[in-house]
Amino acid sequence: MATNRTFTMLKPDAVEKGHIGAILEKISASGFRIVAMKLTQMTTADAQEFYAIHKERPFFPELVEYMTRGPIVAAILEKENAVEDFRTLIGATNPADAAEGTIRKMYADSISENAVHGSDSNENAAIEGAFHFSGREQF
Ligand code: PPS
Repeated sequence: MATNRTFTMLKPDAVEKGHIGAILEKISASGFRIVAMKLTQMTTADAQEFYAIHKERPFFPELVEYMTRGPIVAAILEKENAVEDFRTLIGATNPADAAEGTIRKMYADSISENAVHGSDSNENAAIEGAFHFSGREQF
């Protein structure tokens, strides 16, 4: 995946609450182009692999349970400086610490249900995008 791309998931809480449209609108209005997108549901094995780097963290079982409990929207987004700009747009991991106007401030309730994922590096954006999308699904 090109380095001007990042990977995101609108997490099960955001989908359950009907926030897909509002969040995608905000992402689009912030200058990101959607180059891949789908509604999907991760299996337990998928979530354990996707979040493997966190497997020793105390919240890991809770994170896997949460991320598999319902559908997510997975997407690859393109913009100059995509990884960093998207992390700014979504705000801090804990919505209580997130800046006003960020997606987590507006749509997330807690650190354990924080509405949206954004890759933390170009390398991980490429890995995470390839986890969810084949080359033919990326435009
Ligand atoms: S780190 O150390 O910066 O990588 O960790 P962080 O980015 O803050 O969090 C990694 C992912 O774990 C989720 N997380 C949690 N889930 C449940 N409970 C608690 N306490 C918790 N803390 C962090 C966090 O939402 C991150 O998920 P993603 O999908 O990467 O945003």
